[in-house]
Amino acid sequence: MSGADRNADEELFASFTAFVFDHPDPVVALFGDNLAGWGSEWVGLEPQPGVASEQLVKTVNSTIESARDLVQLFAEHRHSRFWEQTYNASDGLVSDDMLSCYGFAELLGPRGPFVSTRIRGGLGLYGANITYPLHHHGPDEVYLPVSGAADFTVAGDTSTRRAGEAIHVPSGTEHGFRTGDAPLVVLYLWQNGELRETSTFI
Ligand SMILES: [Fe+2]
Repeated sequence: MSGADRNADEELFASFTAFVFDHPDPVVALFGDNLAGWGSEWVGLEPQPGVASEQLVKTVNSTIESARDLVQLFAEHRHSRFWEQTYNASDGLVSDDMLSCYGFAELLGPRGPFVSTRIRGGLGLYGANITYPLHHHGPDEVYLPVSGAADFTVAGDTSTRRAGEAIHVPSGTEHGFRTGDAPLVVLYLWQNGELRETSTFI
């Protein structure tokens, strides 16, 4: 029996795309063509629990208003999501602290649930006071924080970035962040290049 929930996927995807298309930062428009032309296929992903799932529920009230319904939807449907981590304890790439409190649930990309070879996107949660070390990857990326804040470093410049902002990471650019005293919730998009590439750490 499949535990995938197509109705939930479609509801989330509609809310996700609406948020992205309405985002006021012009850099987000760089991803608009690929998001609008993402493809047409849906595949059900078997739910997979993750450590970020229950933490997400607690962030709904601190989510910016423009994304609160979307994060609330993700929280409601957290048990039908496929929660992933790119790294694991044996690869030694990120700290055990980070592994204990981060994860992402993808909505579109090469693996689905909305299948795209052009663009990848979803929601990520990173617990409080953790460091995502400097790394880079081929695809162009944008982070859209919707709850919490972090000190983001991009191409050697560090600044505190908060919910409502957009952080653009051009292809191949070194980047990483340190979260603040509350979990950081972001929507993310990748485009161009190998969309499931594993990052290279500095
Ligand atoms: Fe990245």
